[in-house]
Amino acid sequence: MTDGTPVHITRQHTDVDTAEALANDVRAGLSGAQKTLPPKWFYDAVGSELFEQITRLPEYYPTRREREVLERHGADIAQQTRAQTLVELGSGSSEKTRLLLDALTFEGTIRRYVPVDVSDSALIAAAEACAGEYPRLEVHGVVADFVTHLEVLPSGPARLVAFLGGTIGNFEPAARADFLSRIASTLRPGDAFLLGTDLVKDVDRLVRAYDDAAGVTAAFNLNVLAVVNRELGADFDLDAFAHEARWDAENAWIEMHLRSLREQTVHVKALDLDLHFAEGETLRTEISAKFTRDRVAAEYAAAGLRLAAWWTDSAGDYALSLAVPG
Ligand code: SAH
Ligand code: AVI
Repeated sequence: MTDGTPVHITRQHTDVDTAEALANDVRAGLSGAQKTLPPKWFYDAVGSELFEQITRLPEYYPTRREREVLERHGADIAQQTRAQTLVELGSGSSEKTRLLLDALTFEGTIRRYVPVDVSDSALIAAAEACAGEYPRLEVHGVVADFVTHLEVLPSGPARLVAFLGGTIGNFEPAARADFLSRIASTLRPGDAFLLGTDLVKDVDRLVRAYDDAAGVTAAFNLNVLAVVNRELGADFDLDAFAHEARWDAENAWIEMHLRSLREQTVHVKALDLDLHFAEGETLRTEISAKFTRDRVAAEYAAAGLRLAAWWTDSAGDYALSLAVPG
């Protein structure tokens, strides 16, 4: 904390809940034909820091593009929403959020900021920094899973729920539809939803954004194995897996995988489980869907939301959209 401003932090789950959730995901995800793990397990303290490094990579344009949209249209967002509470899902470092907080402060409406993230290190650092920078703002950080705890997040009049960074693209399509419907049912008249979506574009640029020359994304991807090792006593050898990013044109998404460099068996002590990997077999760790305006509008409509505004950066790489109930 920079100036002694009090920050209120709520935790929706215990360390035991987290270990159980990871155990369930490892059991379920690593027993199928295509091994998978949900991307939320990237984000321990090391993973959150690696993600921050990704946002500064020359190849990773989404963060810069989203910042540009917020710089150009923050005032429009503030005028259209007149939000009193900003709830931000997957807030991470809250770095770009300052642009929204500035615009809502200028508009004179904002009273409270509620960053929500599974990564307690990122959440606490960001909440404390924001409280120091915005002394008149009530900052209430929530360490929670935005899927399981969506309905228990603070309510209040004129709420803007923001989901930035393109993180919506990390959901599977059915989970995304369910999530948007649940967002719609938590919004009251006068509330709004602000969504960041990366847009479909040239495949080479997309793949390079997820396979940078410096290898930071590779380290981020491999970190999920270090998380399973630490939390569940597994013995993944990080040198025996290679990072891979590919474009799936049919689904319009990037996939990140970890490819096993040899045939190997990994033991997960806490689960008394052996995981067999054939040479060349992959573990899919993330999808990152890319959107068009029509697709976003259609998904909003299917969820009971209405597209109220759509803003892109000057290159048309990335969009922010505002949705309202019904
Ligand atoms: N919004 C920030 C961070 C994006 S990275 C930005 O635009 O830069 C994705 C963030 O979502 C991470 O901070 C990660 O910890 C968080 N996250 C991922 N899955 C989550 C989940 N299921 N519940 C809550 N937070 C999650
Ligand atoms: C958080 N999320 C939107 C990022 C993305 O682009 O899908 C995570 C990421 N994965 C690799 N690089 C960044």
